[in-house]
Amino acid sequence: MTEQRGNWTSSAGFILAATGSAIGLGNLWKFPFITWENNGGAFVLVYLVCIAAVGLPIMMAELLIGRKTQKSAVGALKEAVGPAWGLVGMWGVLCGFILLSYYTVIAGWSLFFFAKTAGWMVGGFPAGASLGEIFTEQSANGTLQLGLSLGFSIATVSVVYFGVQKGIEKIARLFLPILFLILALLFTVSFAMEGSGEALAFIFRPSFGELDGGSVLEALGHAFFTLSLGMGAMITYGSYIARNQSVVKASGIIVLLDTVIALVATVIMFTVIFTAGMQDQVSETGTVGMLFISLPQLFFAEGVVPGGRFLAPLFYVLVALAALTSTMSLLEVVASYVIDEHGIARGKATLMCGGAVFVFTILAALSFGGADFATSMSVPGPIGDLFFAGKTSWFGMADHFVSNWMLPTGGLAITIAAGWFMAREASEGELVDDTTPGWFSYDVWAFFIRFVAPAAVAAIIIAVLFFGVDFS
Ligand code: PFF
Repeated sequence: MTEQRGNWTSSAGFILAATGSAIGLGNLWKFPFITWENNGGAFVLVYLVCIAAVGLPIMMAELLIGRKTQKSAVGALKEAVGPAWGLVGMWGVLCGFILLSYYTVIAGWSLFFFAKTAGWMVGGFPAGASLGEIFTEQSANGTLQLGLSLGFSIATVSVVYFGVQKGIEKIARLFLPILFLILALLFTVSFAMEGSGEALAFIFRPSFGELDGGSVLEALGHAFFTLSLGMGAMITYGSYIARNQSVVKASGIIVLLDTVIALVATVIMFTVIFTAGMQDQVSETGTVGMLFISLPQLFFAEGVVPGGRFLAPLFYVLVALAALTSTMSLLEVVASYVIDEHGIARGKATLMCGGAVFVFTILAALSFGGADFATSMSVPGPIGDLFFAGKTSWFGMADHFVSNWMLPTGGLAITIAAGWFMAREASEGELVDDTTPGWFSYDVWAFFIRFVAPAAVAAIIIAVLFFGVDFS
C-alpha cells in the first residue's frame, strides 16, 4: 500500500518547521562559544557574510530540489540530477543518522539541567555547590545519560511517527512561538543588566587583527551546521512544500530568523557572563561549559540576573524545545528515505530508524566517562588523524567527522548538482514565479551557486585536508 505523501498545511507551518530545524543547539551551544573563542566582532561579520553568500543560495537550492521532485534526499537528487547523485543523498542520510546519534545526548542534558534548576528554584541553590562538578558527574553517570537520551529519543520518534502535518508541523507551530517568547523575555531582562554594553561591543565591534584563516573557515563550517544544510534536511522539508509558496521568500525568512536568534542568544549569554565578570571561567570550561556550567551558576548568583532563579528552568525549556525541533528534522531525513525509497509505512519506518539511531546514541551517551570503551574509543594512525583529528570517544569522533567532512562535502556536492547539473529551466521554474519577491534575481543566485558557494566550500575542504582546521 502506498501512503499519501504529506504536505505542509500552510506556508507558515512550513516556515516554522524549517526554522525549527535550523534553530537548535548550533545557535545556543556552538555559535556563542565559537564567537567567544574567536573574539567576537570580526568573526561575527565573517559569519554573516558566509550566511548570506553561501548559506542563503544553498538553502534555496536544497528547497527547490525538494519541491521540484516531491521526494526526500536520495530520490530527489536521483530525479533532479541523475541516478548516480542518489549517492550524495545517501551520504546525507548517513550524516543525519550520525548527527542525530550524538545531538540527542546534548539535548538530553537540557532535560537534566531543567530538572536541577527547577529544583533549585523551589528549594534554593545549595550552598557551596560546584556546577563544574555537577556537570562532570552527570555526564559520567552512564545510567543517567542513557535515561536522558532515551527520553529525548522517544520524544523525537513520537513526533516523526505522526508525520509531516500531525507531528512535525504541529509541534513546530506550538513550540517555536514559545521559544521566541522565552528568548524575548530573556533578551529584555539582559538589557537591564550591567554587562549588556560590554557584551554588545564584544559581539558587534569588529577588530580584524584577531581574525585568521582558521576563523574564516570555522565561520563557513558553522553556517552549514546552523542552517541544517549539506545533508538533505532542507531537500526533505522542501519536498512537502506546496506549489503556491515561494521558495525564495521562505529561504530568506528561515535564514534571517536563524541568524537573528543566534545573535540574540549570544547577546543574552555574554551579558550574563560580563555582568558576573566570569570571562576566565568560560574560556576554561569550553563549549559545553558556557551552556551547562557558567549559565546555571550565574542564574542563581546574587544580583546578576534579575529573577534569575525563575528564568533558569525556563532557559533549559528553551534549549530542549530548540533541540527537539532539530532532532525531528534529522530523524525525518532518515525515516523519509526509508519510506520513499523502500516503501515502508511511516509508523514502522520511524520506529525502525529511531531504534537504529539509538544504538549509536548509546555509544554517544557513554562517551563522557559512562563506559570505558565508548569514552576511549579512537582510530589510531594517519587515518584517525585525518578523519577524526585524533579525537577519542564516539561522541568526539562523530562530531568531528560530521562537521569537518560530511557537511562540507555534502554541501559541495549539492551546490554542484544545483548549479552545474540541473537544467536552468528546472531551477528557474522553481525559483521564479508570481510569488517571487522583487529583490530576487535568478542570475545573481546562479552566479553564487555555480561559483561563489562551491569555491568557498572547496576552500574549507582543502583547509581541512592540508591545514588540519577543526570545525567541531
Ligand atoms: N541546525 C541545527 C542546529 O543549529 O543546531 C543542527 C542541524 C539540524 C543540522 C538538522 C542539520 C540538520 F539536518
